[in-house]
Amino acid sequence: MSPESRIGVVGATGAVGTLTLQLLAERGYREVRAFASARSTGRTVRFGREELPVEAATPEALGSAGLDLCLFSVGASASRELVPGATRAGVLCIDKSSAFRLEEGVPLVVPEVNGERALEHDGIVANPNCCAIPLACVLKPLAEAAGIRALRIATYQSVSGAGAQSMERLRAQDPAGGNLGMDWDFDGEELEEETKLREETRKILELPELRISATCVRVPVLVGHAEAVWLETEEDLSPEAARALLDEAPGVRLAELPTPREAAGGDDVLVGRIRRDPAARHGLALWLVCDNLRKGAALNAIQIAELLLAPRPIAAR
Ligand SMILES: NC(=O)c1ccc[n+]([C@@H]2O[C@H](COP(=O)([O-])OP(=O)(O)OC[C@H]3O[C@@H](n4cnc5c(N)ncnc54)[C@H](OP(=O)(O)O)[C@@H]3O)[C@@H](O)[C@H]2O)c1
Repeated sequence: MSPESRIGVVGATGAVGTLTLQLLAERGYREVRAFASARSTGRTVRFGREELPVEAATPEALGSAGLDLCLFSVGASASRELVPGATRAGVLCIDKSSAFRLEEGVPLVVPEVNGERALEHDGIVANPNCCAIPLACVLKPLAEAAGIRALRIATYQSVSGAGAQSMERLRAQDPAGGNLGMDWDFDGEELEEETKLREETRKILELPELRISATCVRVPVLVGHAEAVWLETEEDLSPEAARALLDEAPGVRLAELPTPREAAGGDDVLVGRIRRDPAARHGLALWLVCDNLRKGAALNAIQIAELLLAPRPIAAR
């Protein structure tokens, strides 16, 4: 993108949209407009040192705003309604909801992992789920080195993954009364989040048959998702070799005992506790954490946009 790229942030009043505006301002973009639901018209949102008026997002408004690019962080049903209006007008859309992620012909992109796929877009690029992104960053070098036979994951997901209102509820609550949650759609067997994590990880890594079993849990933490991962590799991979590969992996940083608090506010996926899993042949266990609002959402989407609309602005705001 260039500083002159005309960018629409759709969902600008939400948890991800607010951070998207902050990151765009920090990176020197200037031509930015803020959109949300009609409920928010009349409000303003912070963009660097400015306040931007919030405009009502409709397919017509997004299509006629003269934008080059739209970054969507609204729910899946709002994305399904709004994104086609923008693409019809030739606006490149990067969508952070689950609406288009598994659609044929829509690239599902983590720039460090499969950035080249973004170039195959037909108007829409999907941003993966906030647990699938850091997982793919960590698995990619391990899969290339030793192949992955099977994967088991337990997630510990912060409340900001469920949006700004959930963050407000946690802030208002006595933390001692906190609880674990499973606040995703449930089909009687699996939570929707668990299905997403499997299907999206397969698509990003281009391993459609990979066996993946996940258990997803919401924890009373404000920002930062954690994942315990047990993987079985095709060939033996020692913890030392895995550590050396991850030390070189883009977007990944080794840390001994990383916590969500350590990851919050940073861009890297932190990975640690890399050890043998004695319960499997060629088994490795590891632990990763990531700021779900940044690399899990806003930052990853901006990185996709920068891949597609190079070059980046030089001067920071
Ligand atoms: N939070 C995360 O860690 C994360 C990570 C990856 C992906 N995502 C995805 O990003 C999206 C937004 O998440 P969030 O956490 O930012 O949620 P949020 O805090 O609840 O914000 C939702 C935003 O969407 C807007 N919106 C809702 N319905 C709309 C409509 N019909 N038309 C236009 N705007 C509408 C809201 O505007 P009003 O204020 O006007 O209602 C608000 O700006 C979701 O699809 C989520 O799955 C979130």
